[in-house]
Amino acid sequence: MRRNLVAGNWKMNGSLAANASLLSELKAGLESVGCDIAVCVPSPYLAQCQAELAGTVVALGGQDLSVHVSGAYTGDVAASMLVDFACKYVIVGHSERRAYHGETDQLVAQKALVALQSGLTPIVCVGETLAQREAGQTDVVVGAQLDAVLALIDLSQIKNIVIAYEPVWAIGTGKTATPQMAQDVHAALRNRVSLRDGESAAIVKILYGGSMKPDNAAELMAMPDIDGGLIGGAALKAIDFLSIIAVA
Ligand code: PGA
Repeated sequence: MRRNLVAGNWKMNGSLAANASLLSELKAGLESVGCDIAVCVPSPYLAQCQAELAGTVVALGGQDLSVHVSGAYTGDVAASMLVDFACKYVIVGHSERRAYHGETDQLVAQKALVALQSGLTPIVCVGETLAQREAGQTDVVVGAQLDAVLALIDLSQIKNIVIAYEPVWAIGTGKTATPQMAQDVHAALRNRVSLRDGESAAIVKILYGGSMKPDNAAELMAMPDIDGGLIGGAALKAIDFLSIIAVA
């Protein structure tokens, strides 16, 4: 059976003071946890969060990484830098990166590959826009996004990725996919993985993301192919994040 993962995506939010109080509330509220937990934080706060989370069950993650090892790439963050701060995860291909930084399916696949080669677990985000959903293209779009990654990585590495289905129209909007809508896409994604390798398909975690909150987390995570959540807004409030962890 797959263990759920609840991963917070702080996006470009936080400050030294806000992070300290969020993480201390989070640590104080964690008890008998039955799922995996992570927070993916802005790069400048990796050192702070590493120190705050040392010895806890909460893993650390980055929000993006470069495909390059080092060099003249101003503003970019190398995989080795994330590893230096004991990151376990890194988000790749978030729809905000695809939309605002022009990241293509091929670039996202390369990022996933580099993450795996560095011992990081890439959380590979896929998702369709509202126009694509209304045009009946959801499976084609998310399928192509996932296939680019599956085509590039080694068969033995497939079980080491996490997939996050995040319908773009549900991110930060308060609109959530219904559990059945999400389940249908998750099942299709798992089926795609199984075309490459059946064993990995049974193991790989597929998270739902897009306005997951304490009041809808239970019905979403009750679906057979939903293995946790990638949480934006609700990860910034300890009480909400803790409630979702309790559900998971
Ligand atoms: P949201 O963000 O929970 O605020 O919708 C999710 C995400 O973008 O990862």
